[in-house]
Amino acid sequence: MKINHLFKGIYSGKKVFITGHTGFKGSWLSLWLSLLGADVTGFSLKPEYAPDHFSLLNIKMTSIIGDIRNKEILFDAIHAFNPDIVFHLAAQPLVRKSYNIPHETFETNIMGTVYMLEACRNSKSIKAIINITSDKCYENKDLQYSFKESDPVGGFDPYSASKGCAELITSSYRNSFFNIRDYGKEHDVLLASCRAGNVIGGGDWSEDRLIPDIVRSASKKEIINIRNPHAVRPWQHVLEPLSGYLLLGQKLLEGKPEFAEAWNFGPRNEDNISVKEVAEIAKLFWDDINYNQETALSNNQPHESSYLTLDCSKANGKLNWNEVWNIETAIEKTINWYKLFYSKNEISTENDIADYIEEATNKDLVWTSLPDYCSFNKTLKPINRQGRNMPL
Ligand SMILES: NC(=O)c1ccc[n+]([C@@H]2O[C@H](COP(=O)([O-])OP(=O)(O)OC[C@H]3O[C@@H](n4cnc5c(N)ncnc54)[C@H](O)[C@@H]3O)[C@@H](O)[C@H]2O)c1
Repeated sequence: MKINHLFKGIYSGKKVFITGHTGFKGSWLSLWLSLLGADVTGFSLKPEYAPDHFSLLNIKMTSIIGDIRNKEILFDAIHAFNPDIVFHLAAQPLVRKSYNIPHETFETNIMGTVYMLEACRNSKSIKAIINITSDKCYENKDLQYSFKESDPVGGFDPYSASKGCAELITSSYRNSFFNIRDYGKEHDVLLASCRAGNVIGGGDWSEDRLIPDIVRSASKKEIINIRNPHAVRPWQHVLEPLSGYLLLGQKLLEGKPEFAEAWNFGPRNEDNISVKEVAEIAKLFWDDINYNQETALSNNQPHESSYLTLDCSKANGKLNWNEVWNIETAIEKTINWYKLFYSKNEISTENDIADYIEEATNKDLVWTSLPDYCSFNKTLKPINRQGRNMPL
């Protein structure tokens, strides 16, 4: 797949450091970046679940196994690599687990973020940092309201509070050390943060997440109890926020300080649906999916917000970022990924990336346009994985 031209060709040959590369989103991002021609180094704990998407992908990159709570090891890894850009995804990302291990959640998500930013502050090579926080960073009062980037951060459970803190830390580092007022004079770093919704896609085997729970049960022909069936979330295919992170990274690497701020990446309003609706759509694509709605059980569960949606008009307007797949397609792609894996042991991650790029190109999304150095030569058409010319 020849895709170096995407995102104005900015990632081709760039040194990209990703924390959390062994995780669900990090493994998809690492593969996409390596296909874009980037020189990728990842820093994470060992993959936690088996099977494990990162190892299955066999990506051409450097993988460092380390703990972001260990400041020295993280500093050494960043300074030895001299990256151009850092995507920070490493975190304890599960709400329910955060009730069991609050201390570890706060240490990883708060101090891990501080150590990452300190390492970047001491680097001479880094031009851009993107800190991946969460839609759960907002102070959520369970109102039928879509959060804007300017809304206050908060957090009821330890995970959400840790991501609210990660946002405050990002904003403090941007004000204190990477202030855009001093950009190009006292420092050369642009720092942004991203708050994406609930992402789905192949290769996630985390505990207590809807899709992994559903597909694990379907693969064993078991019935699953789904919690909080009426809770509404901003569901998206994992490639949607990743295209947002990559587009934002492009702008920062191009040296545009007006993009060094916080960004929401989420679905269109009509794709904010309930847990139950996601399960119903998933069943359309895999008959072995069977579930009970555990409303009684839900009453004994730790608190999780019942309504969470994002207002993404800033990303749509200022960044010109738009979604490619609606919720039905996102669920179909996801369920098909797991069906293929469980039935034939095949991994369709790269095919999904190719399909996504092809549809984004057909929709003429901004990140698919040719870089300026190609526009003089119309014969330089990128080709897709079937060897067909992709539309310019
Ligand atoms: N998946 C979602 O729906 C979602 C939604 C919003 C935000 N996020 C955020 O996106 C990021 C990635 O989430 P994910 O779903 O891929 O999670 P994941 O659990 O699949 O991956 C987490 C990654 O962080 C690494 N990690 C955890 N603790 C670490 C430590 N102490 N030191 C080094 N590495 C450590 C893990 O090894 C793994 O690589 C997280 O910051 C998460 O909060 C995820």
